Amino acid sequence: MTKLNVNGRVVEVDASPDTPLLWALRDHVGLTGTKYGCGIAACGACTVHIDGQAIRACVTPLSALDESQKIVTIEGLSPDGNHPVQVAWRELDVPQCGFCQSGMIMAAAALLAQTPRPTDADIDAAMSNICRCGTYNRVRAGIHQAARGGITG
Ligand code: FES
Ligand code: FES
Repeated sequence: MTKLNVNGRVVEVDASPDTPLLWALRDHVGLTGTKYGCGIAACGACTVHIDGQAIRACVTPLSALDESQKIVTIEGLSPDGNHPVQVAWRELDVPQCGFCQSGMIMAAAALLAQTPRPTDADIDAAMSNICRCGTYNRVRAGIHQAARGGITG
Protein backbone atom coordinates (compact mmCIF):
# COMPACT_ATOMS: atom_id res chain seq x y z
CA MET A 1 0.00 0.00 0.00
CA THR A 2 1.39 3.37 -1.00
CA LYS A 3 0.04 6.64 0.38
CA LEU A 4 0.01 9.47 -2.11
CA ASN A 5 -0.93 13.12 -1.78
CA VAL A 6 -2.91 13.81 -4.93
CA ASN A 7 -4.53 17.20 -5.51
CA GLY A 8 -4.40 17.91 -1.79
CA ARG A 9 -5.97 14.63 -0.74
CA VAL A 10 -4.14 11.63 0.74
CA VAL A 11 -5.10 8.43 -1.06
CA GLU A 12 -4.01 4.85 -0.52
CA VAL A 13 -3.02 2.86 -3.58
CA ASP A 14 -2.96 -0.93 -3.35
CA ALA A 15 -0.51 -1.74 -6.16
CA SER A 16 2.98 -3.11 -6.46
CA PRO A 17 5.86 -0.66 -5.90
CA ASP A 18 6.94 -0.82 -9.53
CA THR A 19 3.53 0.37 -10.74
CA PRO A 20 3.92 3.63 -12.66
CA LEU A 21 2.22 6.63 -11.11
CA LEU A 22 0.25 7.03 -14.34
CA TRP A 23 -1.62 3.77 -13.79
CA ALA A 24 -2.07 4.42 -10.08
CA LEU A 25 -3.71 7.74 -10.94
CA ARG A 26 -5.90 6.37 -13.73
CA ASP A 27 -6.83 2.91 -12.45
CA HIS A 28 -6.70 3.27 -8.68
CA VAL A 29 -7.48 6.92 -7.98
CA GLY A 30 -9.86 7.34 -10.93
CA LEU A 31 -8.18 10.44 -12.35
CA THR A 32 -8.22 9.80 -16.08
CA GLY A 33 -7.27 13.27 -17.28
CA THR A 34 -3.64 12.19 -17.33
CA LYS A 35 -3.08 10.28 -20.55
CA TYR A 36 -1.00 7.36 -21.75
CA GLY A 37 0.84 7.97 -24.98
CA CYS A 38 4.13 6.11 -25.14
CA GLY A 39 5.04 4.73 -21.73
CA ILE A 40 8.71 5.54 -22.23
CA ALA A 41 8.95 9.20 -21.18
CA ALA A 42 9.00 10.35 -24.79
CA CYS A 43 5.68 12.12 -25.43
CA GLY A 44 4.64 13.98 -22.27
CA ALA A 45 0.96 12.97 -22.41
CA CYS A 46 1.30 11.74 -18.82
CA THR A 47 2.80 14.94 -17.39
CA VAL A 48 1.82 15.79 -13.82
CA HIS A 49 3.46 17.94 -11.16
CA ILE A 50 5.38 16.64 -8.19
CA ASP A 51 6.24 19.46 -5.79
CA GLY A 52 5.74 21.89 -8.64
CA GLN A 53 8.00 20.13 -11.14
CA ALA A 54 6.64 18.63 -14.34
CA ILE A 55 7.36 14.90 -14.40
CA ARG A 56 6.36 12.00 -16.61
CA ALA A 57 4.10 9.73 -14.64
CA CYS A 58 4.53 6.75 -16.96
CA VAL A 59 8.12 6.24 -15.79
CA THR A 60 7.71 7.29 -12.14
CA PRO A 61 7.15 4.19 -10.01
CA LEU A 62 5.19 4.23 -6.77
CA SER A 63 8.39 3.18 -4.99
CA ALA A 64 9.77 6.68 -5.67
CA LEU A 65 6.82 8.38 -3.98
CA ASP A 66 5.29 8.94 -0.58
CA GLU A 67 2.67 11.26 0.84
CA SER A 68 5.21 14.01 1.59
CA GLN A 69 5.34 14.79 -2.14
CA LYS A 70 2.54 16.92 -3.51
CA ILE A 71 1.22 15.43 -6.74
CA VAL A 72 -1.00 17.66 -8.86
CA THR A 73 -2.86 16.38 -11.92
CA ILE A 74 -4.85 18.27 -14.54
CA GLU A 75 -7.93 17.77 -12.35
CA GLY A 76 -6.25 19.62 -9.48
CA LEU A 77 -4.45 22.39 -11.36
CA SER A 78 -7.21 24.86 -10.59
CA PRO A 79 -10.37 24.43 -8.52
CA ASP A 80 -12.51 25.93 -11.26
CA GLY A 81 -10.56 25.18 -14.44
CA ASN A 82 -9.40 28.77 -14.65
CA HIS A 83 -5.65 28.50 -14.27
CA PRO A 84 -4.20 31.18 -16.59
CA VAL A 85 -2.94 28.46 -18.90
CA GLN A 86 -6.40 26.93 -19.12
CA VAL A 87 -7.94 30.35 -19.77
CA ALA A 88 -5.42 31.07 -22.54
CA TRP A 89 -5.96 27.59 -24.01
CA ARG A 90 -9.69 28.25 -24.28
CA GLU A 91 -9.25 31.76 -25.66
CA LEU A 92 -6.92 30.55 -28.41
CA ASP A 93 -8.61 27.18 -29.04
CA VAL A 94 -5.25 25.48 -28.57
CA PRO A 95 -6.37 21.82 -28.58
CA GLN A 96 -7.25 19.87 -31.70
CA CYS A 97 -8.10 16.26 -30.75
CA GLY A 98 -7.09 17.09 -27.18
CA PHE A 99 -5.30 13.88 -26.29
CA CYS A 100 -1.92 15.47 -25.55
CA GLN A 101 -3.33 18.62 -24.03
CA SER A 102 -3.55 17.83 -20.33
CA GLY A 103 0.16 17.04 -20.50
CA MET A 104 0.80 20.20 -22.49
CA ILE A 105 -1.08 22.31 -19.95
CA MET A 106 0.73 20.76 -17.00
CA ALA A 107 4.11 21.29 -18.66
CA ALA A 108 3.20 24.88 -19.55
CA ALA A 109 1.97 25.62 -16.02
CA ALA A 110 5.21 24.30 -14.50
CA LEU A 111 7.26 26.36 -16.95
CA LEU A 112 5.37 29.55 -16.13
CA ALA A 113 5.60 28.97 -12.38
CA GLN A 114 9.37 28.87 -12.77
CA THR A 115 9.76 31.37 -15.63
CA PRO A 116 6.84 33.82 -15.61
CA ARG A 117 7.86 35.54 -18.87
CA PRO A 118 9.40 32.82 -21.00
CA THR A 119 11.04 33.54 -24.33
CA ASP A 120 10.44 31.33 -27.35
CA ALA A 121 13.75 29.65 -26.56
CA ASP A 122 12.61 28.98 -22.97
CA ILE A 123 9.40 27.46 -24.32
CA ASP A 124 11.26 25.31 -26.83
CA ALA A 125 13.61 24.08 -24.10
CA ALA A 126 10.84 23.26 -21.63
CA MET A 127 8.11 21.93 -23.90
CA SER A 128 9.29 18.59 -25.24
CA ASN A 129 5.74 17.22 -25.28
CA ILE A 130 4.62 15.68 -28.56
CA CYS A 131 1.35 16.60 -30.30
CA ARG A 132 0.27 14.44 -33.20
CA CYS A 133 -2.11 17.17 -34.32
CA GLY A 134 0.72 19.68 -34.56
CA THR A 135 -0.66 22.32 -32.20
CA TYR A 136 2.83 23.57 -31.37
CA ASN A 137 2.32 27.10 -32.66
CA ARG A 138 -0.88 27.52 -30.67
CA VAL A 139 0.76 26.00 -27.58
CA ARG A 140 3.50 28.60 -27.84
CA ALA A 141 0.98 31.42 -28.35
CA GLY A 142 -1.05 30.12 -25.43
CA ILE A 143 1.96 30.17 -23.13
CA HIS A 144 2.73 33.76 -24.10
CA GLN A 145 -0.91 34.70 -23.57
CA ALA A 146 -0.98 33.04 -20.15
CA ALA A 147 2.24 34.87 -19.27
CA ARG A 148 0.62 38.18 -20.17
CA GLY A 149 -2.36 37.24 -18.01
CA GLY A 150 -0.01 36.89 -15.08
CA ILE A 151 1.10 33.77 -13.32
CA THR A 152 1.95 34.14 -9.68
CA GLY A 153 3.30 30.64 -9.31
S1 FES B 1 3.07 8.35 -21.77
FE1 FES B 1 4.54 9.20 -20.45
S2 FES B 1 5.86 10.32 -21.74
FE2 FES B 1 4.49 9.31 -23.12
S1 FES C 1 -4.17 17.98 -29.88
FE1 FES C 1 -4.22 16.01 -30.81
S2 FES C 1 -2.37 15.09 -30.14
FE2 FES C 1 -2.21 17.13 -29.50
